Amino acid sequence: MSATFDFTDKQVFIFGGTSGINLGIARCFASAGARVAVASRSQDKVDAAVAELEQLGAQADGYSLDVRDTDAVEAALAAQAEKAGALDVLVSGAAGNFPALAHKMSPNAFKSVVDIDLLGSFHVLRAAFPHLKKPGASVINISAPQAFIAMPLQSHVCAAKAGVDMLTRTLALEWGALGIRVNSIAPGPIDDTEGMARLAPNEAAREACRKTVPMQRFGAASEIGEAAMFLSSDAAAYVSGVVLPVDGGWAVAGAGSAALAASLMPNM
Ligand code: NAP
Ligand code: COA
Repeated sequence: MSATFDFTDKQVFIFGGTSGINLGIARCFASAGARVAVASRSQDKVDAAVAELEQLGAQADGYSLDVRDTDAVEAALAAQAEKAGALDVLVSGAAGNFPALAHKMSPNAFKSVVDIDLLGSFHVLRAAFPHLKKPGASVINISAPQAFIAMPLQSHVCAAKAGVDMLTRTLALEWGALGIRVNSIAPGPIDDTEGMARLAPNEAAREACRKTVPMQRFGAASEIGEAAMFLSSDAAAYVSGVVLPVDGGWAVAGAGSAALAASLMPNM
């Protein structure tokens, strides 16, 4: 874990922080000294994440909730503020994904992803506002390359994550004068995650996906955690309203051109 960042005495709340990328972010902040709260639907996942963060030496708190439930989101943020005080860092990362063609998807399937990713992020940011440190708080939305690169089987995620990034930009405008910075991180394909397992469910698909990354490898959840710590540190004190790809160059080339480049350079 990073020795570069020090979040001692800082309060961090990570929605969707009980597995995958977001738990990787939680581990980074916990290892850097922060008190970390995590929230997601499954009580078992919440308990396991809290235990793991405590093993790292952090004070950790957990809440079982659905980000589609505004009352539950508000109650968790209020309870955590009561225990730990104002929030230095808020991460909104709860999300759902499955591959499906738009014309074969039910309206409720599309709505479910938009409700979790986009409306859920709105609920989290809106409810967190009274509890964010002013000035000084860092808000991070977990986006995805689907927000700016269209992908087949991903109309629901593309629409939802594009909305998340516009939420990032508009709240950076609305909250900037209060000293609250709002940014997005757009992770590329990250190894050992539910998202990767759903989009690349076998070895052939994983290999094809790996070849589309200019750096020719998957990322690690800890690398997204490092980026989240950078964006929440004094080193990024003048950074707000950006969507930061952390993806081995995947977004700059785009999936198609990266794949073509890889096929033309078989020995690299
Ligand atoms: P993951 O492990 O499934 O993470 C999703 C988290 O959100 C889990 O903790 C899940 O826990 C929680 N969650 C889901 N629905 C929820 C709801 N309605 N209310 C509250 N919590 C909810 O998947 P991941 O692949 O690491 O993805 C994490 C984030 O990274 C997502 O925002 C995703 O879009 C983004 N991302 C992932 C990749 C990738 O390569 N994996 C790439 C780009 C972007 P519960 O099941 O307990 O609710
Ligand atoms: N293909 C097409 N439609 C699907 C689907 C799939 N693979 N999985 C679910 N759906 C549809 C359901 O059929 C339902 O639509 P319907 O009512 O018209 O039948 C709708 O989506 C909601 O499904 P449900 O299981 O009730 O939703 P949920 O709220 O329990 O779960 C999901 C939300 C669907 C997003 C679920 O995949 C989830 O919980 N994901 C979290 C983990 C995750 O996706 N991690 C990766 C993050 S990148």
